[in-house]
Amino acid sequence: MRRRTFSAALLAGLGAAALPAPFRAAVARSVRPLDILVLGGTGFLGPATVEYALARGHRLTLFNRGKTNADLFPQLETIIGDRDPDVGAGLSGLAGRRWDAVIDNSGYIPRTVRASGELLAPNVGQYLFVSTICQYDDWLEGPPGGTEARPRATLEDPASEDISVHYCALKAYCERAVEAALPGRVTHIRPGLIVGPRDRSDRFTYWPVRMARGGEVLAPGQPDDRTQYIDVRDLAAFMVHCVERGLTGPFNAVRPPMPFGEFLQDCRQAINPDATLTWVPTDFLAAQDVLPWRDLHLWVDAAGPQAGSLAWSAQKAVDAGLVFRPLAETARDTLDWFRTLPAERQATLRAGLAAEREATVLAAWHDAQPAT
Ligand SMILES: NC(=O)c1ccc[n+]([C@@H]2O[C@H](COP(=O)([O-])OP(=O)(O)OC[C@H]3O[C@@H](n4cnc5c(N)ncnc54)[C@H](OP(=O)(O)O)[C@@H]3O)[C@@H](O)[C@H]2O)c1
Repeated sequence: MRRRTFSAALLAGLGAAALPAPFRAAVARSVRPLDILVLGGTGFLGPATVEYALARGHRLTLFNRGKTNADLFPQLETIIGDRDPDVGAGLSGLAGRRWDAVIDNSGYIPRTVRASGELLAPNVGQYLFVSTICQYDDWLEGPPGGTEARPRATLEDPASEDISVHYCALKAYCERAVEAALPGRVTHIRPGLIVGPRDRSDRFTYWPVRMARGGEVLAPGQPDDRTQYIDVRDLAAFMVHCVERGLTGPFNAVRPPMPFGEFLQDCRQAINPDATLTWVPTDFLAAQDVLPWRDLHLWVDAAGPQAGSLAWSAQKAVDAGLVFRPLAETARDTLDWFRTLPAERQATLRAGLAAEREATVLAAWHDAQPAT
């Protein structure tokens, strides 16, 4: 993983040219610098949030275990501890400290999120919790265009801490826990698929990397299927904006849905216009055991039962100030970042179809076509 370090003081003196690559476009400094605590901060969304907040002139403190990319922000104070109050020193390092706002992007278990909410309630003005779009009861199968008014998921056993099974519903209970601890002072950010530089999942990264390889690219489904995502840097900027403006309540944080054909064409155009697309219908792919959300991402069948999962409304966030960069920029920057990774990491994408598998499915598709 590429590590960027930079000094807030240096940024203040040198302006946009000195900004780290994600925010090279000029970022105006906030007129009211804030003290912001980030629970986490060193994985994927955290660094983008920290970099943007620093570029805005805010003062940041991180809280984490010191395990993940511990040398990423040496210029910042990092309070070492654990989200789980029952593990080691737990949250004790946060006691008695004051911040204007906390950005919590590492909360998954209601019990631990309740603990940080209750501990920080007397000492922070606002608590921004990073939830997920899948915390809705019907996020996969609900009708497209869902707003923040849709009901949250419930569990038969809300005390469960099994994130691998109940990740989505547990986020809904985390939201409830923060609300109870800081009524009226909570922002819930509900992102869809977060993509861009430093994304360890490769779900989006597969597409620019695949376009760069060139040749015949398997395009799943049909061009008017829908897709939806959010660039991590746009999400980070909106989160900091919510804190600066004191915006509370829930916000879906996704780009408006776009036709999947437009997504692939824009990506191809930005990365490698010589690549060609061969569209293979969803039912043929299913017969080959190639499925959306498992084998290829950013794609769902517009007529299928999961169509709503990539078609949420973010109008409320857009009205509040969420803005989006072009897909071409996200694709190019993600590919640039990916190419900085060690060769063995680049050789083993964590999502998408391996080259041989893609070639096998494409050959089967061509064989199935009537001779002309
Ligand atoms: N990726 C997506 O597509 C997607 C979609 C929707 C929502 N989301 C949400 O977006 C957020 C993104 O998370 P991220 O990983 O990118 O955040 P991050 O803040 O960049 O990284 C996670 C941080 O949490 C710290 N951490 C982990 N376990 C901890 C513990 N027990 N105690 C204290 N600190 C701990 C890690 O550091 P240490 O390991 O050093 O402790 C690291 O700094 C998550 O809330 C996720 O649910 C993601």
